[in-house]
Parts: sequence; structure tokens; C-alpha cells
Amino acid sequence: MTDTTQIADETRNDPAADAAGLMDLMLGVVKIQVLHAVAVLNITDHLADGARTAEEVAQREGSQPRATYRLMRAAASLGVLSYEGERRFGLTGRGQLLRSGVPGSLRSMVLIQAGYAHWQSWGLFPEAVRQGTSQTKEALGADIFDYLGRPENADVAALFADAMADLSTLTVRGAVAALDTAGVSTVVDVGGSDGQFVLELLAARPGLRGQVLDLPHVVDGARREADKRGLTERFSAVPGDFFAAVPAADLYLLKTVLHDWDDDKAIAILRKCRSAAPDGGRALIVETVVGEIGKPDFATMSDMGMLCVTGGIERDLDEFDALFAASGWRRGKTYPVGGGYHGLELDAV
Ligand SMILES: C[S@@+](CC[C@H](N)C(=O)[O-])C[C@H]1O[C@@H](n2cnc3c(N)ncnc32)[C@H](O)[C@@H]1O
Repeated sequence: MTDTTQIADETRNDPAADAAGLMDLMLGVVKIQVLHAVAVLNITDHLADGARTAEEVAQREGSQPRATYRLMRAAASLGVLSYEGERRFGLTGRGQLLRSGVPGSLRSMVLIQAGYAHWQSWGLFPEAVRQGTSQTKEALGADIFDYLGRPENADVAALFADAMADLSTLTVRGAVAALDTAGVSTVVDVGGSDGQFVLELLAARPGLRGQVLDLPHVVDGARREADKRGLTERFSAVPGDFFAAVPAADLYLLKTVLHDWDDDKAIAILRKCRSAAPDGGRALIVETVVGEIGKPDFATMSDMGMLCVTGGIERDLDEFDALFAASGWRRGKTYPVGGGYHGLELDAV
């Protein structure tokens, strides 16, 4: 991410540098489109076994050769491709992470972030600020999770689940390693998508049984993932709505769920968990936490996406604590778990 603070400090009383800084920020719109086209046209997959000329890539992909060369040149200037001379390009470390099916891939995330559904909402972003509400219903005719649940959008929903699973690789190992599960027998991953978090925990702690609660169109993915990992005997997937009910458990996992919702709805989810938890029940929240204002901060950028697309909020610790106090939980240990995310352990009050 561009260090905007540094630019501001360096450019005091320097209009030319200020203009350059603003131009750089404006290029953000181009940068995400370059990443999107690289992902859609499978450019990095075409380079997986070695450098190729833009013309060779264009022939494999069926794209226009000169436009493909221009795209690859732009991707090289973003550090996604390396330039090997004579119109040949290879993969950098960043480019490797835009390949499909590699550990830690962020390709699905790029396809979601710059894909049709998100992009339509971003077109209405100023209105989201004016009204304080997501514009997804205006843009797509439904809130984002209803949109993803429509049968005609099954491909986007699958891509969204892939993006969530890929992002999970940044955080779940760290979260599982830090979490003390003494006294815990049952775990529910609330809004757990394809179950990356709870399944990682079950693999590490053979005494635990776990569930994913998620929307009906999502839970088959969790069953497949449990099957793939050989964990079906200790796992089940529960189709449902976390505003209606959550299964009883000793420990609730909520990873990047609260950030999708405004305060009232986030409190409603937490209360459902609290009322289903036994005395001594616990929860682990994994979210990005807003830090010091005025510093470069992934959380404040992600917060704009929440405002525009989901209607949710990225929060600072005080804002999280207000949610917990209103829903019968108290925050205890808090620690980084990787990828800019934090684990917030909660005890039932
Ligand atoms: C941002 S994703 C996070 C997924 C997962 N926890 C992770 O971190 O990879 C939010 C999840 O909440 C689920 N969800 C949204 N509304 C829900 C509802 N009313 N009841 C249950 N799950 C819901 C979505 O389907 C999605 O899987």
C-alpha cells in the first residue's frame, strides 16, 4: 500500500510533490484493473513454467497481442511480472500469488474485489457516505449475501468462498497456535464459509468436535473441505441464519464476520452466540483492528469496502469492546495472528 503519511510529510509546502502524490493515489483505480485483467486473462498461469513473450501469452489466451504486451508491461511496472528483455516476461513473487491453485494465492480475491458485483457498488460509493449505508442493494438489487445466494450467481459465490479460504491461509495457523482450548469440547465456526478455521483447529486438537454454521448455499463447501481433510467424523455443517439461531458450543469462532455488519446486527450475532453458550463459554474473534489515525492502515481501507459493499464496519478496539459489553462478552487476550489480523478472545460474562 502507498505510504500516504510519508507523502504528506515530505511534501509540506511543495505543490508539485503534492500533485504527484495525488496522481499516485489516483492510479489506484488503474492498478486494481491491471491485477484484474492479469487474473481474468490467466497471464500468470501462462507464465507458471517459465518466461514467455507477450505474443506467446496472447496466442495461448486468444487475446490481442499488442494489448496483451501493454498489459504485461504495466504489470511489470507494478512488480507483478519481471521483464526479461525482447518482449519476454516472467513471474515475480507477487505474480506467483496471482496464479490459480497455489498456496496463498490471492487471485480469487482480486477477481472478487474488481469483479462485477463489487464494482457496481463502488460506482455509488459517495452515496454510501452520504447515506451511511451500503449501496449494494441499489447496484445489484439485493444485499451482498442475498445476491451471492441466488442460483444464477453460484459462480460468484464459489469464487467468494475461494477468496475467503485463500485469505484464511494468512491467519488461521497463527490463530490456532495462539488459542488455548483447555476445557473446550465443542466449537462452532459462525459464518465459517468452507470451514478453513474450524478444520485447522480440529486437525491440531484431536479431542475437539466442530461445526460450521453458514447460509444453505455455502455449507456444502465446508462438507467437501472436511472430507478432503479426513475430518468428517468430528465435523458437521449446519445450514442456517446466525440472526435466527446458532448451535450450542463451548467455543465460537467468528472470523471476519462482525466486520460485515453494522453495530446493531453485530451485537445481534454476538447475543445469539452468548445465549447459546454455557456458563464459562468463550469466543475468538478474528478481525483487522483499526489502529492509529493518520498512519497507513489496511483496516481503514478495508473499512471503505465494508461501508460500500457489505454495510459493515472495520472497528478499533474501543468499538469492539462496546459491541462485546452490549452482548454479554468481555475481551481478554488480544494478539496478532498474521496478515494484519488480530485474535480477540472473549469470555461470557
Ligand atoms: C466475510 S465471510 C467470512 C467467512 C469465514 N468466516 C472466513 O473468514 O473465511 C462472511 C460469511 O458469513 C456468511 N453469512 C452471511 N450472512 C449469514 C447469515 N445470516 N447466517 C449465516 N452465515 C452468514 C457468509 O456466507 C460468509 O461465509
